[in-house]
Order: sequence, then structure tokens, then C-alpha cells
Amino acid sequence: MEKRLPKAKQGEFHRLKLTKKQQLTKNTFALEFEIPEALKLNYEFEAGQYVTIRYPSKRGVFQNDFSMTSAPYEEKIALGIKINNEESSTKDLINDFEVGDEVEISEPKGRFTLVSKPHEFRTIIGFAGGIGITPLLSHFKNILHKEPRTRLFMFYGNRKSEEIAFKNELDSLAKKYADRLQIFYFFSQEPTSDNLFHGRLDERKLKLIINQILHLDDTDEENTIWDAVDEVLICGKGEMIKSLANACYNSGIPKKNIHFELFEEYNEDIYPVEKDFPRVENIEVDFKLFNKNYSTTLKNNEVKLLQQLLIQGFPVPYSCKSGICGSCECVLEEGEVELLENEYLTEKEEASGKILACMSVMLSKKIKVNFDLV
Ligand code: FES
Repeated sequence: MEKRLPKAKQGEFHRLKLTKKQQLTKNTFALEFEIPEALKLNYEFEAGQYVTIRYPSKRGVFQNDFSMTSAPYEEKIALGIKINNEESSTKDLINDFEVGDEVEISEPKGRFTLVSKPHEFRTIIGFAGGIGITPLLSHFKNILHKEPRTRLFMFYGNRKSEEIAFKNELDSLAKKYADRLQIFYFFSQEPTSDNLFHGRLDERKLKLIINQILHLDDTDEENTIWDAVDEVLICGKGEMIKSLANACYNSGIPKKNIHFELFEEYNEDIYPVEKDFPRVENIEVDFKLFNKNYSTTLKNNEVKLLQQLLIQGFPVPYSCKSGICGSCECVLEEGEVELLENEYLTEKEEASGKILACMSVMLSKKIKVNFDLV
């Protein structure tokens, strides 16, 4: 999936050989790259992470982020790439490179990861929209491989059945792990025999899913499967994530167990924030990022620190924008902020001056932060 957003710390680039290029649907492709022996350590990764590809084309040099579909045990970089439209830079990537060519690929990065618990009985639910399936495929393969007691449910939404990416791989996983994995497909623009599977994945649909799919729990007759859910993984567009994350939270899943990866620019808060602050205007902000010093003035404190820096076009790292993933962690060196939500920093880290820029409301006219000190 093409993610145009500068959401991560920068990683080293190396040239990797393209070993497979396969068309999956009308506009999605799978690419695979081999990891040479000498770079094995550089490309160790966790399920759910992504890489940046830098590639020249007739229209200039492009740099795009793509989630990996491979699981760590597969020891290769596999990606799912969508060409969004005729102008999309990913079209050049797909057209200009053939098997055998070398492409510049960054070392893996990203915080859409889970702690592995191979000895526990867990229930994990995934929601994917369109090409948002890519990091979930990596997670699901990894969990099925490493956690013999974990059961998984995948809810995958597309407009039409012909748009399902990685259908063959998903179906073979569901067949191989029939006792632990169930996959349900939803279509927003195609009739389905059961109305449950028609429409978008959103809050309303989640209620139906809980009532009609996740109702009885064979392993615990007192409870439903939903009661047993340990982790939720969501990947897709902002509106889908917002709707599902809030619905999961309102249905009893703690925020720290709801993990999501945004696949588009989205500057709204995922979870609503209800609190009033004294208004501060013309805030001077100095910050250090990737060894560069920046200065800017922010109009007021109505919008949180990270979001204002992104609106001004600074390449500040982020992922969840909700105080959960830690991508926007930085050290407050001067000034005052209020951290609205924090599911990531420990008390000790907060006391040492660390903040999460995405959840920081500025309360002083001068703020100085350092993103490199974490
Ligand atoms: S972007 Fe995830 S904690 Fe700020």
C-alpha cells in the first residue's frame, strides 16, 4: 500500500534484488525482495512493520512506505502495492522494475507490532480495509506460526470480491489453520447472500459481528468470543479506523489493546478528547529532528503539537496519533504541555520529560522539544 506519510524515524537504505512480481487484482501487485546474507541483521523485522522504497522514475525520485506482508520467519521482504490512480507514483515502480533488478529499500521500521505470547491462549481480531490487509497478513502468519494456542478472526472489507488482495494466500492460511483462523469477507458495492456481509466495516457492522459471529464461545460456555478478545488490529483508511477503534473501545476493549495503522493522511483525533484549556496564541516552537534544528510559530493551542507540525509540512514521525504507539515520542526541553492520553510512556519516562507530541496540548508561548533524544 502506498503510504505517502513521513511517519517514521529514518532508516538506512540498501539495494535489494526483486525476486518476484505478481499481479493480484486489477490494480494491486505483490513484490518480493531477497535479503542477502550480509544484510540479515539489518533486515530483521517484526510482524506489522514497513519499509520505504526509494526509486527513480521519469517523473523524479519517489520515496514511499509499504507495509510488509511477509512474516519474520519467512526471511524475505514481501510487499502489497496498490496503484491508486494513473498519476500514482507506484505505477512507475510496478512498470519500471522487473525481477532481477535492484531497488533501494530502507531497513524495517514502524510500531504496528504486537508482543508475542507463544505460551498463552489468546484471541486476536483483525479488521482490514482494501490494501490495509498487508500488515495484518504479516501479523496473522506470524501468530499462526509462533503461537499454537492463539485463535484469530479476520474481517476484511472491499468494495467488490474482485478487489480482494492476497485472496489465495488468505484462503490457504484459513485451510491450513482451519481450527484457529476464520476469515470473513465484506463487500460495500456487491450484493451478498447474507446482508451481514454487505456494507462497510464500521461501528454498526461491529455490533452485528459481535452478535452474529462472535457470540458463542466453545471454550467457555459462560462467555462470548468477544469477551475473550485480547488484541484488536485495524488497518485501512482513517474513517474506518476511527469508527472501529471507538466501537471496540466502547464495547469493552482497552485502548492499549486496540492497535491501528493509518493508510492515508488523517488529521482528526481517533478518540474524542473532551477538555477545555486556556487559549494560548502565537506559540514559538523549536524542535530537533533527525539531527536538524527547526523553528516555527503555531497559531494557537487548539490543535495538538504533532498535528500542527504535520499540517505545516514537517516530517515528524507518527503512526497512531492517539498516544498508543510511541512513534511521536520526544523530550520536552522547554515550556509546558498537557499530555491528554498516554498508553505508551511509563511514569518514569513521563517524569524524565518525555512526551507524546500527538497528545500534547501546548500551555506556554514557547515550546522546545527534541525528537532525537529518545
Ligand atoms: S503517533 Fe502514536 S503515540 Fe503519537
